[in-house]
Amino acid sequence: MRYSFILLYLLLYVQVSVAQEIDYDKFVDGLMRKMTLREKIGQLNLLPTGPVTTAYGQNEEIFEDVRRGDVGGVFNLRGVHDNTIIQRMAVEETRLGIPILFGCDVIHGYETIFPLNIALSCSWDMNAIEEMARISAREATASGIHWTFSPMVDICKDARWSRISEGAGEDPFLGAAVARAMVKGYQGNLDSIDEMMACVKHFALYGASEGGRDYNMVDMSCNRMFNEYMLPYKAAIDEGVSSVMVSFNDINGIPATANKWLLTDLLRKQWGFKGFITSDHSAVKELSNHSLGDEREVSAKALLAGVDFDMGSRSYVAQLENAVKCGLVSEADVDVSCRRILMVKAKLGLFENPYRFLDAKREKCELYSKANRAAARRIAAETFVLLKNANHLLPLSKSGRIALVGPLAHARTQMHGNWAVAAKNEKYSTIFEAMQQYLKGKAEVRYSKGSNYFYDEEMERRTWVNFSEQPHLNDSILLDDALRLAEWGDVIVAALGEPGDLSGESSCRTNLDMPDAQHDLLKALLATGKPVVLLNFAGRPTVMGWENAHVPAILHVWHPGSEGGAAICDVLFGDVSPSAKLTTSFPQSVGQEPFYYNHRATSRPQAKEKWFEKFRSNYIDCSNDAVYPFGYGLSYTTFEYSPVILSCNDICLDGGELTASVTVTNTGKYDAFEVVQLYLHDPVASITRPIKELKGFERVFLKSGESKVVSFKITTDLLKFYNANMDFVCEPGLFNIMIGTNSEDLQQVDFMVKE
Ligand code: NOJ
Repeated sequence: MRYSFILLYLLLYVQVSVAQEIDYDKFVDGLMRKMTLREKIGQLNLLPTGPVTTAYGQNEEIFEDVRRGDVGGVFNLRGVHDNTIIQRMAVEETRLGIPILFGCDVIHGYETIFPLNIALSCSWDMNAIEEMARISAREATASGIHWTFSPMVDICKDARWSRISEGAGEDPFLGAAVARAMVKGYQGNLDSIDEMMACVKHFALYGASEGGRDYNMVDMSCNRMFNEYMLPYKAAIDEGVSSVMVSFNDINGIPATANKWLLTDLLRKQWGFKGFITSDHSAVKELSNHSLGDEREVSAKALLAGVDFDMGSRSYVAQLENAVKCGLVSEADVDVSCRRILMVKAKLGLFENPYRFLDAKREKCELYSKANRAAARRIAAETFVLLKNANHLLPLSKSGRIALVGPLAHARTQMHGNWAVAAKNEKYSTIFEAMQQYLKGKAEVRYSKGSNYFYDEEMERRTWVNFSEQPHLNDSILLDDALRLAEWGDVIVAALGEPGDLSGESSCRTNLDMPDAQHDLLKALLATGKPVVLLNFAGRPTVMGWENAHVPAILHVWHPGSEGGAAICDVLFGDVSPSAKLTTSFPQSVGQEPFYYNHRATSRPQAKEKWFEKFRSNYIDCSNDAVYPFGYGLSYTTFEYSPVILSCNDICLDGGELTASVTVTNTGKYDAFEVVQLYLHDPVASITRPIKELKGFERVFLKSGESKVVSFKITTDLLKFYNANMDFVCEPGLFNIMIGTNSEDLQQVDFMVKE
């Protein structure tokens, strides 16, 4: 019986393909006519699973679900071997043999792991970001994956929120560029087996969770929503992203998962999104926790809002048949979503060959290849932000004695940050190992752990520190050992900061300082009088006022990925000059959060000369300034900017444009990249506008002594914003152009837009 169905639609498929390329609509219509309501609902069920060979408990249940035809997709199951087992169950053991879609959190690499996404954004190198996504797609598809839950493009202005690590920072213009690069890299044309469907997430506004606490509510004006948050999602949609993942949060009182305005009116009708929508993990069922009704009611609400795939909660399969019976939804509503999922499977060619992506030979060649590792090393070096370099302490010489200290200096499991589901830790080097290899025969490097991450073992447990790799040891024994090593060294390199899981989902912090035990270690190392280089690890902007005042050299290395150790050596020892620039502002105090450069003007801004004045918009105990502002990052060389030249001083409202140019010269000794930044400001408008907004950037390579002209085209489109009526307009009048090396170090010229 089952085989006759397979034969039938293979025949149908072949007929259709011969007749007119492939008529997917016709094929899917034909298939759906044969499906029962239950089978259609089964297609909307997306389940997580662990390796099939381990006793994950849930797997047996999932196997049964698959065999029953109750599953449309599974996620985070990896590898040709395991995926083939599940695919075979679906194809050979269900009535209609509909293949499974395999999704996975491929976020910043697969087995070759790139730096955290926030770090990648600091490269301001869209080619590199696209290349990272391309390599991730090649590796993941070779491992049987069709679909990644990336890019995450949530704008975040609050460093307490731990998922700031997964996005591109606080700026929507840069965020949109990163979103486009990632979708392009993952998907290509989606016509070959090494390209993978992308999923833009978390729609929408998840990065604005109140108080920086994960899953929390968002209450936001339309002005802010559309001028500051929506652009990156829209950019991904315009780039043709295949799917959207809905965010956990509520938006102005309606959870995104049940928000018809968001998912249907805005996303589909206004923006023209044609792909499919998945909920986040268990979010359909959790609508009940938002007080939206019982499981049946919330399942109906999610479906009607526009959620096609129910990820992880099994609520659709448990409730929708019944919801149809009692009229909460109709079979036609189910059909719409089912059709979208089947369409995707058809376009991926899974009906022609369900095992298309399951080629063990390919898997062997693609994963963690030499070429992929070289790319990860090169790209990681582009993401390290040089925050301070007093007296040119860096780069270090490749000779002498290096005392490498800190719990992150020799921690294999901590190199790659939190989203590395396919990590093969045993293959990656620690910084200590990479440095020994790098300096072989030139300099001597010795290591001491120096401290635990936190004094409190419970804090380490919460951040999933791997105790079998790094047991919690006696604090003073650790410190004494590190100080002995410091005495031996000519220079101390301290690898300190957040362990990998202190960022990512559900690791929000109310304290953004360096963890206590490590802070004390750093103080003790500085007290030796030896030169100290801090390699600061973090998945977020941290509070670094004290470090900035006391440590001579600071390189912010985020979580640098599987090749991070070698990449750190490339920069530390001067083979590569740092070129990264921050995409989030670094505050002086957690009390400043949410903290971001592109805020709107107030009636009483902080005074310029004296940061505190009574009855102004300032705190009494801390200025409004950043320790390190958005766009900031030093180099081993120096750059000089000529005055800005405009091609004309006024343009007309109706499609006018001008060019702003600046000559940048490398005035130092090292060849290096500089990221030239353009900001605009609309000083008189119908609504309050940000004091400055990034509107252009260019990453230029300059040899020592070389000059290049960098030009930005400024069109009236670039000046548009959503006004009080939500019209997207450019208003005539004066505009300020600011060009420079970071969001504060800028030169300004003005021009007019005339009616
Ligand atoms: C929950 C996370 O919010 C989301 O980003 C992720 O893709 C899913 N879980 C699947 O793992």
